[in-house]
Amino acid sequence: MTGEKQALESLPGVGEATAGKLREAGYTTIESLATATIGELCEAIEIGEAQAKKIIAAARKVAEIGEFVTADKVLERRKTVGWITTGSKQLDTLLGGGVETRAVTEAFGEFGSGKSQIGHQLCINVQLPPEEGGLGAKAVFIDTENTFRPERVLQMATGAGIDPNEALKNILVARSYNTDQQLLIAEKAEDIIEREGVRLLVIDSLTSHFRAEYTGRGTLAERQQKLARHLLTLHRIADLKDVAIFATNQVQARPDMFFGDPTRPIGGHILGHSATTRIYLRKSKGGRRIARIVDSPNLPEGESVFMITEGGIRD
Ligand SMILES: Nc1ncnc2c1ncn2[C@@H]1O[C@H](COP(=O)(O)OP(=O)(O)OP(=O)(O)O)[C@@H](O)[C@H]1O
Ligand SMILES: [Mg+2]
Repeated sequence: MTGEKQALESLPGVGEATAGKLREAGYTTIESLATATIGELCEAIEIGEAQAKKIIAAARKVAEIGEFVTADKVLERRKTVGWITTGSKQLDTLLGGGVETRAVTEAFGEFGSGKSQIGHQLCINVQLPPEEGGLGAKAVFIDTENTFRPERVLQMATGAGIDPNEALKNILVARSYNTDQQLLIAEKAEDIIEREGVRLLVIDSLTSHFRAEYTGRGTLAERQQKLARHLLTLHRIADLKDVAIFATNQVQARPDMFFGDPTRPIGGHILGHSATTRIYLRKSKGGRRIARIVDSPNLPEGESVFMITEGGIRD
């Protein structure tokens, strides 16, 4: 376990007063310091560059960010990876067995393409026993758009053959009304996940608040920085708690405009062992939906078709 729960005061050069200032400025964890920039820190708590550099370096050491591990260790860690069925065999195959733990799976697509439906379905399916494609575990649902529908969960639970009322009790829902809350809720989730036996975290949607709050070119960098911090939390949860993260992202056209390169290295370079899979969803004839894998580190590109039925996601 990395030192995320360690107090800021444990870092050399950080006394009580500095730690207090850091917390006030929003740097509540060692991880958050490890990913801060020197300039950011100088400005936030009015210290010199040398001290900021020292604090960041110390935080990185504790957080084990930038440490190299040999590939056999990576393989060993990946052996504990679990999969949650989507309800569609075809879609599962496309995803290499379902939605993976220790990974962030991002579903993007236009309105009505099935992102939220899959999110709901996973909250049911994670509860199934392993022989039925689940992990016998609970789910956390972070609802940013007021799209969580317990009634829909009841239908899907019935469809999956599990007790609907029990199913509801195994889903922990939190609403967020802005990006600050969203970040906080994700950090809070990190604390309850182990205690509650959670193996799935759904964020529906990952990006809507970011889009709404940061409009215009001038705010792009700020938005990406905050989103990057949020993604870092999600990747850390995925990695350290062996959780599957399923995030939705509505896009009209050119998805790469929003979720392009600025955020990519977050998963890739900072926490190298948790992969990101992106699936692009679109509507097709006769109520069908088409899913396509986009730039996955370990899955071949391909497409699959699924349906949304009363009982849930099906082939
Ligand atoms: N009970 C149901 N039975 C069959 N199909 C359903 C049912 N409930 C929802 N759907 C289908 O799911 C679609 C909505 O999908 P969903 O809410 O997942 O879209 P989304 O990708 O999350 O869109 P948005 O970007 O607007 O959030 C509906 O248009 C409908 O086709
Ligand atoms: Mg939705």
